[in-house]
Amino acid sequence: MKLSERLKELDTTGADAAPRTNGSGPSTTTSASTQAPAQPAARARAKTDAPEQVDPLAQLKQRAQQALFARLGSRLYDSSLSDDQLQAFVRQELTEVVEAERTPLSAEERKRLTEEVTNDVLGYGPLQPFLDDPTVTEVMANSDDAIYVERVGRLQETSARFLSEDHLRRVIERIVSQVGRRIDESSPMVDARLPDGSRVNAIIPPLAVDGPTLTIRKFAADPYQVDDLISFGSMTSEIATLLDACVRGRLNILVSGGTGTGKTTLLNVLSSFIPEDERIVTIEDAVELQLHQDHVVRLESRPPNIEGKGQIAIRDLVRNSLRMRPDRIIVGETRGGEALDMLQAMNTGHDGSLSTVHANSPRDAISRLETMVLMAGMDLPVRAIREQIASALDLIVHITRLRDGSRRITHVTEVHGMEGQVVTLQDVFLFDYSPGLDEDGRFRGVQRPTGIRPRFTDQLEQLGIPIPPIVFGAPIEDADGIAPTGRPRR
Ligand SMILES: Nc1ncnc2c1ncn2[C@@H]1O[C@H](COP(=O)(O)OP(=O)(O)OP(=O)(O)O)[C@@H](O)[C@H]1O
Ligand SMILES: [Mg+2]
Repeated sequence: MKLSERLKELDTTGADAAPRTNGSGPSTTTSASTQAPAQPAARARAKTDAPEQVDPLAQLKQRAQQALFARLGSRLYDSSLSDDQLQAFVRQELTEVVEAERTPLSAEERKRLTEEVTNDVLGYGPLQPFLDDPTVTEVMANSDDAIYVERVGRLQETSARFLSEDHLRRVIERIVSQVGRRIDESSPMVDARLPDGSRVNAIIPPLAVDGPTLTIRKFAADPYQVDDLISFGSMTSEIATLLDACVRGRLNILVSGGTGTGKTTLLNVLSSFIPEDERIVTIEDAVELQLHQDHVVRLESRPPNIEGKGQIAIRDLVRNSLRMRPDRIIVGETRGGEALDMLQAMNTGHDGSLSTVHANSPRDAISRLETMVLMAGMDLPVRAIREQIASALDLIVHITRLRDGSRRITHVTEVHGMEGQVVTLQDVFLFDYSPGLDEDGRFRGVQRPTGIRPRFTDQLEQLGIPIPPIVFGAPIEDADGIAPTGRPRR
């Protein structure tokens, strides 16, 4: 009997071992004999995304991997070694490990074993196929045996597994050590990036109660462009025309929306409307924006080091950028005191700025801004803050992830001014939910103009940027011709 057949037989007798239960004590000692197989068959069968397959080399692979981890120890995370050096090192050690196994292997089996173990040890283990899969946009490991992905806007559980909690922990350590950071009990949560730019968050016990947790927002090498967003129904071509004019006309625009709704993607699309001859400064926590213009300076904030020193916040970068002769300042996400500096900059000639804010509606975006300005610690009266907001901001574009997984712009809202103590807002486009769902559970509706022609259209016209009246098209209106905002149409 060939080795692969023998191993297959072994595997089928042991493969239904119960999967490890979460929080079942320390798992640093994971000997091959007690270890659940890489893909517990019972759970795997319930999943749909990967075909069920028992790998004949699985047990050998697992033993080789454990032995390799034991031999290499911390050298695996040594950032002074180049990738090539580490590869060579691992291959050499692995050859010795496989030889010590004394299991006869064909040349092909040996090659495959070496490839797979090297990938597991040097790469991202079971996450690798998802990182390579262009249809996956987000990868989430809640623990070593619960890996979820997001595909086409929908969450799916997968049958992939880490060998153990320790294995997941090692992958996390590899990722964070590559960017010169450390994760341990004293600093149990870290933001990092993969070499391809994907955004990573890792959080480990004691903060993550059920074990190390890893979330990867994959970097879109080819980010969505305006035409993609139109084809997804995220916006209409009329909205695209309006936004293009607003960006060229140097209006200050805020993208608002919940987490993962597509704010950064939309900000990237808005940035693509900036004319080539302008100097752009982008400020982000982790570089995500991909601008095609030539004249771009990218700034990235810095977290404090292990002693808690050396932090450079977004706010510091916003202030610094004002001395860099920017034509445009783009702040990836406004989430703190930098809101005040942004508003001041917008009100003092740095118009055409763009940013995003985490909010549930355009109105909520205004109150978030207010709170963030208060975080700047200037003790400003609320009315003064609102006046700053009302005079600085021109437009809020709100994006939502709907129940069907699609991301849609639901509001394009003009910031009008102040009425008494209140910042007045005027919706120009609203998502129309009334057509309901189609047979696949997808929203049929589109964004419709409310019929209100925003005030800034005159201003843009004077700048030589006319907006065709068709953009504001036929309004949604009730029988007496009153737009849904309650104001008579102009
Ligand atoms: N209009 C869209 N249609 C479909 N998918 C989209 C759209 N916009 C963004 N996505 C996808 O949704 C995911 C989240 O996008 P993005 O990073 O832009 O969201 P975000 O709101 O900035 O998230 P966060 O709150 O985490 O910063 C990405 O994987 C992206 O490819
Ligand atoms: Mg974002």
